[in-house]
Amino acid sequence: MSPDRGVTEKTSRDRPAALSKAPPVALVIFGASGDLSARKIFPALARLADRGVLDDGFTVIGVARTDWSDEDFRSHVSNATPGGGPKWRALTERFKYVSGEYDHPDTFGQLKDHLDEADRIDGTAGNRIYYLATIPSVFGLVAGALKEHGCNEAKDEDSFVRVVVEKPYGRDLPSALELDVQMHAAFDERQIFRIDHYMGKETVQNLLALRFANAIFEPVFNRRYVDQIQVTVAESLGVEHRGGFYETAGALRDIVQNHVMQVLALTLMESPTSTDADRIRDEKVKLLHAIDIPSPDEAVDKSVRAQYVTGEIDGVAVVGYRQEEDVAADSQTETYVALRLRVENWRWSGVPIYVRTGKRLPARVTEVAVTFHQVPFLLFDHQTSRDLRPNTLIFRIQPDEGISLEFGAKVPGEKFHIRSVAMDFSYDKAFAGAEAADGYERLIHDAMVGDATLFIRSDEVEQAWRIVDPYLTAWSESGSTLHRYAAGTWGPAMADLLVESTGSHWRNPEIDLELSGGRLTELPQ
Ligand code: BG6
Repeated sequence: MSPDRGVTEKTSRDRPAALSKAPPVALVIFGASGDLSARKIFPALARLADRGVLDDGFTVIGVARTDWSDEDFRSHVSNATPGGGPKWRALTERFKYVSGEYDHPDTFGQLKDHLDEADRIDGTAGNRIYYLATIPSVFGLVAGALKEHGCNEAKDEDSFVRVVVEKPYGRDLPSALELDVQMHAAFDERQIFRIDHYMGKETVQNLLALRFANAIFEPVFNRRYVDQIQVTVAESLGVEHRGGFYETAGALRDIVQNHVMQVLALTLMESPTSTDADRIRDEKVKLLHAIDIPSPDEAVDKSVRAQYVTGEIDGVAVVGYRQEEDVAADSQTETYVALRLRVENWRWSGVPIYVRTGKRLPARVTEVAVTFHQVPFLLFDHQTSRDLRPNTLIFRIQPDEGISLEFGAKVPGEKFHIRSVAMDFSYDKAFAGAEAADGYERLIHDAMVGDATLFIRSDEVEQAWRIVDPYLTAWSESGSTLHRYAAGTWGPAMADLLVESTGSHWRNPEIDLELSGGRLTELPQ
């Protein structure tokens, strides 16, 4: 029997709804010659253009220090968007580029001229979005310069000025607070759109749908029924050519403070009263406030940090972190982190929340696994039910987006041999064209239409830093151990102990990945 029978047949009704048409706007990208712009922003814009979402009055003004002409910039954009169709290619013809320092008056003088020209010639209607995709240390500087040159306020009631800010937003609580002071000196909070691209992922948004559009899950989503929760954000890639940036970040800042906290908030928060941006964000921030902030000693006990050494990924030898480009030979930066968290509220008190993330792990997989208690009394013979695992609900955020529910079933035959099987819902099978979107397309669109629901409010960012700061402090002050793990393994042995101390063990998502979608499937032994 197929558990998702009835929706497995793809119909046009299931195709992703078209995004609404965006208003005219000049998108000013600071950091336009950088890696993020090429890998994420331009490809997302190209898709939006070709889908007909961008207005005819849309243009891009790139700003960066690289010494380029408009022509150089346009050919850079074309190279970054090889799949761009005619609509995109036509738009790129008008793109402009400003080469200069982020605090130099000439840079902003030229930018203003281009913006005026865009309003006159391209029909951008006075609407501006400033996208800060530079190195984070200049975010505040750029915001200040925009204000100084009068670029931060809308021309009239009908136009808008917004600023999109990339992560990382600060590198700890004091610097995030300081950045907020600088941002708020130039922009109102409602003009500031802080990006966390995980919020743009369909499967992350689906956490809300599963929890609040169904009657059967919510009643059991609490300490009475849930034994533990594990969040895994695993990557098989290393730091690629971002060694310089990663040296200043590490896994806790790069993934846990933002992506993991957002996923946890959506998984564990109470029901919002509406889908209004601030009602959802109010609930997320309430949940973040309930995450226990450890003392420095607890932070050492409840965390494991590690760095990868030489190993193999898919049979291919890969170098260790310290041998990567732009990484110090004695680097102490963690590429893996595992934490044991507590959520202190009526719903979740006492339920251990384990999170782990790492680079150069065996597979790319992001999932949330909610494991329920064992049955109070097992009717069946323990010997023949040894393969029975507790019920687990798994949200597969990527890849192979979907949801699985593991439960016990009788193996056909004379005896009551019970083992775990999985009921599997696959996005790909259920919805035609449901791509593994990386979120940028959706988020850039939402910034254009002014929908802040999927963006991070300042109080969320601050609370997330309050949660992770004690680990950073504890690691730097206590000289705590930086463990090692071979690339291509699931992290250091110490991380197993973190979980085993409460009688549990980490899930192996690779085994789960082998489950085929949409069918009742036996779990591999
Ligand atoms: C980014 C991190 O925020 O997320 C990267 O800076 C990481 O280090 C990336 O590789 C992972 O994103 P995704 O969408 O591939 O899970």
